[in-house]
Amino acid sequence: MRLAVNIDHVATLREARKAREPEPLTAALLAEMAGARGITVHLRGDRRHIQDRDVQLLRQAIATKLNIEMAVTSDMARVALQVRPDQVTLVPERPQELTTEGGLDVVAQAGAVADFVRQMHDAGIRVSLFVDPHADQVGHAKQSGADAIEINTGRYAEAGEGSRIQELQRIADAAQLGVRQGLEVLAGHGLNYVNVVDVGAIAEIEELNIGHSIVARAALVGMERAVRDMVALLGR
Ligand code: PXP
Repeated sequence: MRLAVNIDHVATLREARKAREPEPLTAALLAEMAGARGITVHLRGDRRHIQDRDVQLLRQAIATKLNIEMAVTSDMARVALQVRPDQVTLVPERPQELTTEGGLDVVAQAGAVADFVRQMHDAGIRVSLFVDPHADQVGHAKQSGADAIEINTGRYAEAGEGSRIQELQRIADAAQLGVRQGLEVLAGHGLNYVNVVDVGAIAEIEELNIGHSIVARAALVGMERAVRDMVALLGR
């Protein structure tokens, strides 16, 4: 199972001060050194965290796979064709949302998605669709010409004990259907150091996209060292 690290929240911290640090590119290179097989960023319409310069720098510097999550808009298609990431992941985007709230409705937007996929393929860019674990969404993903699906694990991550197993089964079923249709199957959203284990055991899923829990842990496991470094500078 490959891990792709979403570094959006390194940029969130930088943008909280409109400062120069922390630098998302540095986080990406460290993630790669630690074994990440891909770097994911979400370039939002409002540019609330990742900026255009970030995707350009990442494109030049990282050695693994650059995956940019984006909405199905002509503005984003333009950015993708200019930056040329290895992969784009199409996601729904509501301006006020705190994070991606659900999968893309590939059924309702079939024409626009197929169009977007065609434009990316003409430029040699792979396309993954972030979808809820529903058979009709997976089926339409295949019909749109996409190369991969990323199954939304958000509902599983939020499920209580009563529905957790059921949500996990929906992910496993969607993953099997995806593979049967010849799609590469990825998954992500809301995964952490506890709930990742069961998703990681689903053989059909080849890659997980994980962001928040990794950046959150990085802030805490790095705290002691960061304070020691400052105390050492102060000399007492
Ligand atoms: N996959 C998609 C499509 C996302 O939008 C996000 C959040 O940006 C993730 C995965 C990662 O989710 P999390 O930050 O909860 O690990």
